[in-house]
Amino acid sequence: MASSRPGPRLCVVGSCNVDYVVRAVRLPRPGETVLGGDVERFAGGKGANQAAAGARLGATTSLVASVGNDDEGEWLLDGLGARGVDLTHVQRSRRATGTAFITIDAVGENQIVVAPGANTELDLVGVDLTLYDVVLAQLEIAPSVVAQAATRATRFVLNAAPVVDVDADTLARCAVVIVNEHEAESLDLATLEHCVVTLGSRGAARYTRGRLVARAEAARVETLDTVGAGDVFCAAYAVALARGESDEDCLRFASVAGSLATRQPGAQGALPTEEEVTAWLARA
Ligand code: RIB
Repeated sequence: MASSRPGPRLCVVGSCNVDYVVRAVRLPRPGETVLGGDVERFAGGKGANQAAAGARLGATTSLVASVGNDDEGEWLLDGLGARGVDLTHVQRSRRATGTAFITIDAVGENQIVVAPGANTELDLVGVDLTLYDVVLAQLEIAPSVVAQAATRATRFVLNAAPVVDVDADTLARCAVVIVNEHEAESLDLATLEHCVVTLGSRGAARYTRGRLVARAEAARVETLDTVGAGDVFCAAYAVALARGESDEDCLRFASVAGSLATRQPGAQGALPTEEEVTAWLARA
């Protein structure tokens, strides 16, 4: 049943990529070649994935992004528009639309290399970030744009992925910094007021100034593809925060949403609704 509450306003500032995915029995080690299956193409990019997930979770969602003047950009935007994402602030660049090269192994783990292309050209000219309850960004765009977004947003959430240097002022402006376990190794959690670390099928943990303050379980599902699960987690956390939910509830909601997203191929392939997540939480 659809929620009767008005949707919170979410703005995602981030990347759009076309994902080229190949499955192999295992991920190659450095210097090694492994044989894989056929190449598949999916819509991706951490920003686009988070925007699509936010819209699916019931938020009124705008995406601030940059794509190339090419068929790939058109294809990505068609998909996002069909999912109800507001694309008013998507810019067109002379550089090619971002591309991600992804390998997935037999247990659904992945390795990703991104050619960012048009994502690096994004700017925030003419975008009023104060109109949104929460602004969510990641690091596949220029760090200077992320820093501006943090300064101009009323409430700012950073998914610090991939690992890129972020200045202390930007980190200090975050309501929460969300990272996976690998990314967490490059941060000094003790310097962050609030940090959430995603733990894959083990759920997620929340830290205050480096001290573990909460854990949440993931939903137990059959995992087919983990690409984009972290993005769904981030979007769900931001949507719950924008709805005014407690830190504990944001963590629980996001942990279940992220795991539900692993059940279908493609970063935007299995985006859960608010009702699905709530139903899983009620069963737990
Ligand atoms: O987080 C998953 C995303 O990372 C993929 O969709 C890929 O495009 C990269 O940005």
